[in-house]
Amino acid sequence: MQVHATFELSHAQTVFCYVNGHLCGTQEVDATNGSVTFPIEGFWERNMISFVFPTNRRQSVIQIKDVGIDNLYYSILPRVFHDNIYVSNLDQSSEHVFTELYHAHQFEGPGVVGVRYEWPLEEWYFRQQTTDAPAEDKQRLALSRFINYGWTDTKKRLKAGPMHELPILPLDAKLDAGDCDSIAGIFDTDTGNEPQMKTVIQDGQTRLVPDLALKENKRLTLFGPNSADYPKVHEATATSHTWQECEQKLQGIDFYWHHRVPALEQLVEALGIKTLYAIEFRTILPRSIQPVHGDHETKSLFNGLKNRLYIPISWNEHSNLAFYGVGNVKIDLGRVYCFNGNAYKHGARNNHPTKIRHALLITANVDSERFDKLLQESYKKFLSWL
Ligand SMILES: [Fe+2]
Repeated sequence: MQVHATFELSHAQTVFCYVNGHLCGTQEVDATNGSVTFPIEGFWERNMISFVFPTNRRQSVIQIKDVGIDNLYYSILPRVFHDNIYVSNLDQSSEHVFTELYHAHQFEGPGVVGVRYEWPLEEWYFRQQTTDAPAEDKQRLALSRFINYGWTDTKKRLKAGPMHELPILPLDAKLDAGDCDSIAGIFDTDTGNEPQMKTVIQDGQTRLVPDLALKENKRLTLFGPNSADYPKVHEATATSHTWQECEQKLQGIDFYWHHRVPALEQLVEALGIKTLYAIEFRTILPRSIQPVHGDHETKSLFNGLKNRLYIPISWNEHSNLAFYGVGNVKIDLGRVYCFNGNAYKHGARNNHPTKIRHALLITANVDSERFDKLLQESYKKFLSWL
């Protein structure tokens, strides 16, 4: 096996690579797109890859751009690994962990950039066969491995654990097939073509940017604020730590049905939703994917199974939704699923040559007795689906 990494540096220098504390080798690295490859013996369940730059000069920048195992690169910047990156000066006097988005780090001299794999990523990734797929296919390949991995042991452990630590749970609530068809029709006939957005937090600032991973996938709001207020709602739900704080940030924003869908209004009522913020499409166009990623809502509000709700509106035999620990999710069209997306990595694909795959994502405060009751009943009824 080999570990590869690409760096952007202020000056060319030597790097030492350590995997789980063992030195794998040392190499010279170019300043721009400096790539290194080190042979490694193998991985543990949780791993630490460190790149040590002992000759880095004062105030020199070290940026890790990508890291890969056996030619399967997984770009760091599209957020998959950002929360597992840390940097420190060589004397370890100032470790900095990127709890937010990773960006280049300026060092005061010799420094270390490390990547921690806190969850056993290698279950679906590291233990696979070597491949030399073209760069654009690598996310697709990683997703495919993620979907196909046999999760037996992890699944057993998760199912035996607390209910709220499940990655996903079907609820005893469902839209009928006719309603799903007409909702999908709203998307297909809408002429608006706004990009789907995501929140990034950098230096404490929240910004809403087009989600490049989903660049082909349109965003359409069924319920929520107008376009101008959308970033505020996205920010409030992604960064607030109490409902009060969230409500404060949302003061004065008008939430309304952009398209009236009586079946959805009834569903919101039936679920016992306390405050509804948004119902939006999450579509995947033919032959497209949503790469493996984690969501960014704060866990203080959108926690566990009260994270977000997901409804598959149209599906086909070439579509998959996969979660860490569960793998390919059994999809029942129109059924509401609790979607624990900020705790577990997930990804989706639509390999159908012509059909769009539609799903709805509901952002809401579901802290209500009725929702709790529904959750408990659904847990008894649908745990065996996982
Ligand atoms: Fe997600």
